Amino acid sequence: MSAEYKVHGDVAVIAMNNPPVNGLGHATRIAIAAGIDQANADPAVKAIVLTGAGRAFSGGADIKEFGTPKAIQEPNLLSVILACENSSKPIVAAVHSVAMGGGLELALGCHYRIAAPGASIALPEVKLGLIPGAGGTQRLPRVVGVEPALNMIVSGEPVKSEMLAKLPGQKLFDRMAASPESLLEEAIAFARSVADARPLPLVRNLPCRHPLGDAYFGFARNMVKGMAKNFPAPAKCVDAVESATKKKFDDGLAAERETFMALMLTPESRALRHLFVAERAASKIADVPEDTPQRKIERVAVIGAGTMGGGIAMNFLNAGVPVILLEMKQEALDRGVAVIRKNYEAQVKKGKLKPEKYDERVGLLKTTLSYDDIKDADLVIEAVFEEMGVKQKVFEKLDEVMKKGAILASNTSTLDVNRIAAFTKRPEDVIGLHFFSPANVMKLLEVVRGGKTGKDVLATVMAMAKKIRKTAVVSGVCDGFIGNRMIEQYSRQAGFLLDEGATPQQVDKAIEKFGFAMGPFRMGDLAGNDIGWAIRKRRAQERPNMLYSKTADKLCELGRFGQKTGAGWYDYKEGKRDAIPSRLVEDMIADHRKSLGVEPRKISDDEIVQRLVFSLVNEAARILEEGIAARASDVDMVYITGYGFPIHRGGPMLYADQVGLFNVVQAMKRFQKNPRDDAKFWEPAPLLLKLAAEGKTFN
Ligand code: NAI
Repeated sequence: MSAEYKVHGDVAVIAMNNPPVNGLGHATRIAIAAGIDQANADPAVKAIVLTGAGRAFSGGADIKEFGTPKAIQEPNLLSVILACENSSKPIVAAVHSVAMGGGLELALGCHYRIAAPGASIALPEVKLGLIPGAGGTQRLPRVVGVEPALNMIVSGEPVKSEMLAKLPGQKLFDRMAASPESLLEEAIAFARSVADARPLPLVRNLPCRHPLGDAYFGFARNMVKGMAKNFPAPAKCVDAVESATKKKFDDGLAAERETFMALMLTPESRALRHLFVAERAASKIADVPEDTPQRKIERVAVIGAGTMGGGIAMNFLNAGVPVILLEMKQEALDRGVAVIRKNYEAQVKKGKLKPEKYDERVGLLKTTLSYDDIKDADLVIEAVFEEMGVKQKVFEKLDEVMKKGAILASNTSTLDVNRIAAFTKRPEDVIGLHFFSPANVMKLLEVVRGGKTGKDVLATVMAMAKKIRKTAVVSGVCDGFIGNRMIEQYSRQAGFLLDEGATPQQVDKAIEKFGFAMGPFRMGDLAGNDIGWAIRKRRAQERPNMLYSKTADKLCELGRFGQKTGAGWYDYKEGKRDAIPSRLVEDMIADHRKSLGVEPRKISDDEIVQRLVFSLVNEAARILEEGIAARASDVDMVYITGYGFPIHRGGPMLYADQVGLFNVVQAMKRFQKNPRDDAKFWEPAPLLLKLAAEGKTFN
């Protein structure tokens, strides 16, 4: 049973028990309904308390049932709530810790509510592209008022129980308990005190009005439109709450349900629900069980105080972990520390960091030029120049000085982590921690698992990633790991598009309209076109037959590295970041086309988007086949958290699934005929072909 039933004198207590957060799965719903029946049938019972065992009242829908028939199997949540309302004996919800989504809707269906202080109360459905589907939009405005309710429903953000209890005229909580510990006892006493009250109060019978009516909802609609780009649910939240003020309760409830079901079928909600599950899945590693012993990480050392080293250090300082930065020269240290201070100062100025926190964070940072000072660190992260020779010297030294059991990590973006591990006599302690720039901001952390990396090392860094609030995704060892290996194909494809007739601004606009924060050419100008140039020079030696457009090299030969040189794919006015289409670049591209003998053609935005996105998908299919990524949803997490892939599309793999893999393969076959493409480029990966043939999907 997923709920416990106990009788305390003349009060029955039903405690939902479905760890970790008492999700309202089918078994739990059955158990609640059965508890209510049992209490109503027992003449010795006069009143009922509904609460949650363990760490929550209820976190709402059970994510294990998401999208399965069980989620709506009777008794569904609406039926359980109706059973609460129809109970002939009063039901008191005793709310503590967490009452979210369906959990809060259930409490709103009870006759009375008593809350412990500190409980997080929310209707977070909008974060999954939905509106509350079991009366939340109809009942919450009736107990806290229209505006506070709409704010909660549109934002999905939790509000503390004691804050809600202070709202003037609120009817959400009949009582506040003195403490979480005394909640149950107080709830039982309260239930006893209302045992004979009749008629029993129902939230549905309360009035629901806003004094400004249409004017208020018009204003709310405008506010939401600005915020909710690409997502339909927030505007629907406004409609639903407006219905609560205008329709009869049951009609409002029916309209809410209809909207909920319709939103469930939208690609936007599918994307958000996919990412919700994907994020949790990414932290699991098949052969590293959750109870794998972990090492302690209390002190961290970072080698190299450049672009990445400083940002990496900040992650740990923010989490209260002391960091020692090591460099070759004092000037480099001073420069690195100055950047860290400047970043924190900017946060203080913007009011994002309290001044006393500034001192606390900077106070945790030490610097050194000597390896002697870092030998006791539990984790050392190397962020020196991207050259194997330099990495070799650093790792040999680390092997010599670091204490036994220290984790030795490299932030390399392209080099072979197994080779780096082999520079030490402890390859089991070596791992790749690929942060993204700016490392103190970007959510993604690619955890690169070497052939010999210890399972405890992996378990430790996955837990550490949570502590520093990163989304960690495990990658095997290969050139570019998951993200950069895919982006290389995307960049090659962007180049081919120029060769065939597109302009940088056309390509950027098309993919930005699709939802990317920035197209490949604006991105290149921001990051520096010289980075890709250096990689291509290396590639030219490693894989001389790999075809790519020479336009990017020509651009770099002109010294147009991007914003930092005042010109790149676009022109820039001094000190400004606005990308202005460049005549010179367009002529350069046209000359190059001529030299290739290519007659330019008009390329549609659809073709641009498909070629860029499917180039990611095809490479990802190979990455999956090779076991470099464990699951397609990991690839999606990498692209959403590290590469600005539009959230409402759910990542490249979910997008391909939604287009249909058969259609993806067909498109690739069409692209194979393009004059400038390496025909091999569009050879569908075997995994993609297989799934398409079987009518299956990646996710
Ligand atoms: P950077 O050139 O800004 O900084 C490197 C720093 O390392 C310099 O301050 C240098 O003085 C120091 N250094 C060099 N050799 C050293 C040694 N033997 N001992 C101590 N310090 C030494 O380079 P950046 O961009 O920070 O890159 C560092 C690493 O991070 C590279 O492996 C790079 O591939 C990787 N990476 C870079 C990203 C980026 O966007 N810049 C993104 C992800 C990874």
